[in-house]
Amino acid sequence: MIVTTDPKAPTGGPLPGDGTGVGGLEPVLRVEDVSVSLGGQPVLDRVSFSVEAGGFCGLIGSNGAGKTTLLRVILGLLSPSSGRIVVTGGRRSRKNPRIGYVPQKIVLEADMPLRARDLVGLGLDGQRFGIPRPSAKRRNAVDEMLDAVGATRFADARIGNLSGGEQQRIMIAQALVCRPELLLLDEPLANLDIRSAAEVVELLAHIAAEQRIAVLLSAHDMNPLLPVMDRVVYLADGRAASGTTDQVVTSETLSRLYGHPVEVIHVQGRVLVVSGAEHQAHHADDPDPFGRGA
Ligand SMILES: Nc1ncnc2c1ncn2[C@@H]1O[C@H](COP(=O)(O)OP(=O)(O)OP(=O)(O)O)[C@@H](O)[C@H]1O
Ligand SMILES: [Mg+2]
Repeated sequence: MIVTTDPKAPTGGPLPGDGTGVGGLEPVLRVEDVSVSLGGQPVLDRVSFSVEAGGFCGLIGSNGAGKTTLLRVILGLLSPSSGRIVVTGGRRSRKNPRIGYVPQKIVLEADMPLRARDLVGLGLDGQRFGIPRPSAKRRNAVDEMLDAVGATRFADARIGNLSGGEQQRIMIAQALVCRPELLLLDEPLANLDIRSAAEVVELLAHIAAEQRIAVLLSAHDMNPLLPVMDRVVYLADGRAASGTTDQVVTSETLSRLYGHPVEVIHVQGRVLVVSGAEHQAHHADDPDPFGRGA
């Protein structure tokens, strides 16, 4: 269900300005009324939003809100029970080169005999079988991407020896090397300190704008994304509110989304979502802003 800012408007429609792209451009990603059930339980309920070329959209929600599920549906790894997803007007498939994906769980063993640049190169092999042949073109594509994410310095290091932030840059380079039009990232900031998170966010925003890539990035804390995010999709209890940050991150919209009174408080450039019912402050990245089920 879409929660609108207009109290008289029916639910089910996108927020004003969250339809087709700016200037009537066709969005790169369109999610239309998508519902998903897993194990017989509803996880997503009529979610709709779109992301344009060069747009940066934050997918915000607590643990279990359905962020990974939504990304897996967009990738075609899960089928929605109803609704429709369109990516740059084409059909989706499991190995769609138009979509780059950085999954939430990446296990990189310390003794993995792979250099950072080898891992980036694997991003070029998604559509092919067999051992890749080294070529100047391939090397140039990898070098260019390593440079774009600021990873040239550790390009020849063993991947397992890199820090979390360095590994995250390599995974982004791997997802970008086949030049996708849409980049999906599932909690890429989860293991980063504040400075590294800010650097990765700035890097992604720069790449999205420069290469006209649509970015959809999931996070449970929206604060690191505030400087760059031009759209937000906020998930709670399977439902979604989408639009600009100013439209969605308001007491009125989030109260309607949660079905409880919620207050949005701005403190020193950060946003806190507070449960109005219990007058108990919860940080926006708490597992559950209502303190339930813990
Ligand atoms: N295969 C499955 N079968 C049944 N339920 C599932 C399955 N996969 C996920 N779920 C449930 O769907 C809900 C949404 O899960 P999802 O992983 O999408 O949440 P999330 O927002 O990504 O959470 P997190 O922030 O913890 O990564 C959860 O309640 C989860 O337990
Ligand atoms: Mg997840």
